[in-house]
Order: sequence, then structure tokens, then C-alpha cells
Amino acid sequence: MTRSGSPAELRRYDAATAQLDPPFAIVDMAAFRVNAAAMTARAGGKPIRLASKSVRCRYLIEEVLRMDGFRGILAYTLPEALWLADRGTSDDIVVAYPTVDRAALARLAGDADAAAAIAVMVDCAEHLDVIEKVAAGVANPHPVRVAIDIDAGYVALAGRLRAGARRSPVRTPADATALAREIISRPGLRLAGLMAYEAQIAGVGDNPPGRPVYARAVRLMQRRSAAELAQRRGAIVAAVRELTPLEFVNGGGTGSLAGTSAEAAVTELGAGSGLFHPTLFDAYTGFTGQPAAMFALPVVRRPGPGVVTALGGGYPASGPGVPSRVPQPYLPGGLRLDREEGAGEVQTPLLGAAADSLMIGARVWMRHAKAGELCERFSALHLVDGDEIVATVPTYRGEGQTFL
Ligand SMILES: Cc1ncc(COP(=O)(O)O)c(C=O)c1O
Repeated sequence: MTRSGSPAELRRYDAATAQLDPPFAIVDMAAFRVNAAAMTARAGGKPIRLASKSVRCRYLIEEVLRMDGFRGILAYTLPEALWLADRGTSDDIVVAYPTVDRAALARLAGDADAAAAIAVMVDCAEHLDVIEKVAAGVANPHPVRVAIDIDAGYVALAGRLRAGARRSPVRTPADATALAREIISRPGLRLAGLMAYEAQIAGVGDNPPGRPVYARAVRLMQRRSAAELAQRRGAIVAAVRELTPLEFVNGGGTGSLAGTSAEAAVTELGAGSGLFHPTLFDAYTGFTGQPAAMFALPVVRRPGPGVVTALGGGYPASGPGVPSRVPQPYLPGGLRLDREEGAGEVQTPLLGAAADSLMIGARVWMRHAKAGELCERFSALHLVDGDEIVATVPTYRGEGQTFL
């Protein structure tokens, strides 16, 4: 069963946005602040580097960076990082995924401020070669700061079970020290830190609705993975620190803040989704959050009893093409998607008794399955505080920036 909001929330959102014509997106700032505070509490005193992909709105990123407990940005592309640094959003940015963007790397190596502010992710010598080759074409290049991405996935049953993101080939202390030595030996590079993101814990809900057997298997896997990773991450960090000092060791995500922050080897967390608290994050036993980002659709048709049709809504989230990636109706309560049509490209039928009270021109409120991807669909976010809109701010898209 999908989560529904309360009638009081519905009245508040409808009243605050009465003058707007849907579709549009809002952020409930009270919920956003509550979520931020809950995240920093779970981080147990360690700073959270804000995963910008999960916000994709410069105004909100800057708002979060002013809050206690958040420090620096975990960006998703180098052009994004350069743009954020250039706008003065942050001077402490780690790009979490490797880049082969030659123009962006040339800008990084050619700009003292950018080179000091930004670190890029690497996991093999080829990444280093790409950076060095670009820097060789730049007049007086500045050293490029890099971080090593460690594979935090869980492998069991002699490799027959694998959980986690397929990203870095660097898995052991020996792998990590070999790459660290390679970085240290290259004069144009500086090793700034390590990152090890345990997607199979931080990004996989252990309480998916209607799947109790799978949920038990997820919990078992997560317990074992956390124990294995704590030991391996600690050993990797210790081994690399013997070669060179590290500015940071980043780990975790919204779904693992409490567990990851307890590891002594981890100096900072990386997280963002918990701020908007999209539907995928309803499926965790360890914490709850308040839905903070929503989008409103207009009811444009009433095909028959128990069903209305809204305009738009087909904003599926990335990842495996499974039902949990589809947006869900949130308000009024008691609506559900049609199994055959789902959330449609131009029209979304919504079923349930509540449909009969929705006249043409009424609105329904939906939640996205993931956080920042919502901002690729809207050029602005209306920030609701109490029962009024206190600001309307551009998303990345609204600023003409679509990085991925
Ligand atoms: C490297 C890295 N760190 C942290 C996160 C956690 O982000 P969030 O808290 O938004 O789920 C992610 C998410 O994909 C990630 O790729």
C-alpha cells in the first residue's frame, strides 16, 4: 500500500498553491528541515557531504550547506562541479563518478580555484592517464586532486552472490595501495581521499511493501555486508594512510547514515535523498522521513465512477524497470495507479473512491520514486512553508543545466 498524506496537508498544499496551474512541483520546507535534522542526527556528529544529484536545485543545495552537519558537495559530473564552484555554491566538491570529459578536465587543470575546490573520482590507472593527457595540453596546469573509489559491494558464496553497485574494481587493501602509489608517483596528481559507497545497504530498502520473504533476505545480506565492509574499509583506509595523509574518507548514503557513521575509518558521509524523502525511502525499517517534494497534476477527465484522469505524471525513476520506480499518488489519500497504464506520458488515470470527489480542474499530488530526478521535469520548485509559498526557485533544469 502506498503512503498517503493527511487531509490537513492536502488543505495546506491546495491553499498555498491555489493561484498556480498544475503541473508544478513543490517542496514542503518544514518537512525538508525535519528530514535534514534527522539525517544529521543519524550521522552522529560526522559531516554529511551533500549528494547534489538528489537535490538538483542550487538554491536548496546552498540552503542545506548553511545547516549544521552538512559540509561540501558530492557532485555527479565534473561540468556540474565546475558550475557550482564558479557560482560560489561551494569550494569543497568531490565528483563521485569518474569523468572522461576532456573539456571539463582542461578547465579544472587550468583554473587554480577550481583545482583547489574540486576532487575527481578514479578507480584505475586509465583514469589517471586521461587526466594527465588533458593536463599536458594546458598551459601551467594545476595539480588535479583525485579520490579513489573503493568497491563496497558484498560478495558471498564464492562469488555466486553479489550485491551492490558495479562500479570500482578496487576492492582490497592491495588494490587500493597499488592505485594510491600510482597516483603519488605522478606529479600532476594529488590523492585527496577515498570513497566507498555501500549501495546495497544505503540504497536498498529492507522493508519493501508486500515482499516479506525478500525483505528478510535483504536484512540478512545487509547485516553481513555491513560487518564485512567495516573490517575491509578499515583495513584499506589504514593501508593507504600509511602511504599518504587523506583529507577525507567518504561512505554511506541516506539509508545507511547511522551504521556507516559508526565506523571509525569513515570521516564523512555522502547523502541527499533523505531531504526530499521520495517513495523508495519509505521502505526502510531503520528510519522514517517526511515526504517533502511533491508534484501536482490537474484532473482533466472523469472517465467513470471511481476514476479520474490527470494530465502528465509519467516521470519514472532511473534503475531497474520495476513498479517501485513509478511515481505514486499521495493526496488525496486512497488513490492508486491503474495497473495497465501506470503513470502515463501525457495522462495518468487514478483509481479509488477518492476519485469521485475530484472534479475537473481539481488537483492530485504525487511523489516521485527518487529525489533529484524530479527536478529534471520541472524548471522551478515552489517552496511551501506553513500555508504559503515563500519562494519559487529554479531547478538545475530551470537554470538551463542538464548534466545527465
Ligand atoms: C557515491 C554515492 N554516495 C552516496 C550516495 C547516496 O545518496 P542518497 O543519500 O541521495 O541516496 C550515492 C547514491 O547513489 C552515491 O552514488
